Amino acid sequence: MTRQRTLTGYRPTGKLHLGHWFGNLQNMLALQEEYDAFYFVADWHAMTSMWADTTEIRRFTEEQVLDWIAAGLDPAKCTIYRQSDVPEVAELAMYFTMVTPMSWLERVPSYKEQREQITDRDLGNVGFFLYPLLQAADITIVRADLVPVGEDQLPHLELTREIVRRFNTAFPSADGKGYLVEPKGLTPKEGARVPGTDGRKMSKSYGNAIFLDDSPEEITAKVMSMITDPARKLKSDPGDPSICPLHAIHKLVSSDTADIAGWDACCRSAECGCVAHKRKLIEDLIAYLAPFQERRAALAMRPGYAWEVLSEGAARARPVIRGVVDTVRALVKIDE
Ligand code: TRP
Repeated sequence: MTRQRTLTGYRPTGKLHLGHWFGNLQNMLALQEEYDAFYFVADWHAMTSMWADTTEIRRFTEEQVLDWIAAGLDPAKCTIYRQSDVPEVAELAMYFTMVTPMSWLERVPSYKEQREQITDRDLGNVGFFLYPLLQAADITIVRADLVPVGEDQLPHLELTREIVRRFNTAFPSADGKGYLVEPKGLTPKEGARVPGTDGRKMSKSYGNAIFLDDSPEEITAKVMSMITDPARKLKSDPGDPSICPLHAIHKLVSSDTADIAGWDACCRSAECGCVAHKRKLIEDLIAYLAPFQERRAALAMRPGYAWEVLSEGAARARPVIRGVVDTVRALVKIDE
């Protein structure tokens, strides 16, 4: 029996934080065990918004791969590759431009939001407009069944399914089932949502992220600055752990359930203060991240390793991708 396929991509725009770690990465780690897994670095997607200065994309690509491997992705179990190493994806995107109405791309929520919110860069380029269409090509080019992503990506998956249906209708396969596969999204489970130090969703662009490679000093400074239950002004005020980002992160990081229950109770009864709890989270977080950081530091000592992984990954991905593109060429009747 052939295994189901999964695929996901990350734009190489910097380092991973706890939001990635407890969210999408856990899904990726689980899926590499059971699925035929394709995980790629979306360097062309990064370029859609960084085109004016591309100098950092290669460094970020390399760091992305090392972060993934230090986090537990195993290049022997999953195929790790770089988007620009499989230029066939641009060919599939080209066919998608034929069947996709412009209005579908204009109404993608992330497009509208980012055009409004990002004002320090020029996003009027066609590449940025085509971003979700290229993403549809990334996914369908391996005929992926399942795509682990954050909630914010669900509109892109919906668009992918619409493009697939449109393509399959325009270019029916002999068996009448439609050749390209409509992918399903897999979002992180409830409770994996990681608040940032300011209580909003953790995100690099909000400046509220704790990165996987933060030093003990950085962790200390960030945790000390965290907001807690805003209604708890004095240590003598009882707090509500269920709305406190400090508790939320501590619960994810600590496996000591008795300790977590203890902090919960003594916050509610106002017996302990937030500063003491912050000190404990700092200690636990530093210990929790140490194994990742050791693996990451060891990988950094192997120059060229990330590029070896990417070139082996491309060599594995390309025959699969070539096969799909050949079939698509035949379906659109460019080839026989
Ligand atoms: N848009 C995704 C993000 O910003 C990255 C991405 C590109 C992707 N192509 C993809 C994710 C294909 C899943 C599948 O996170």
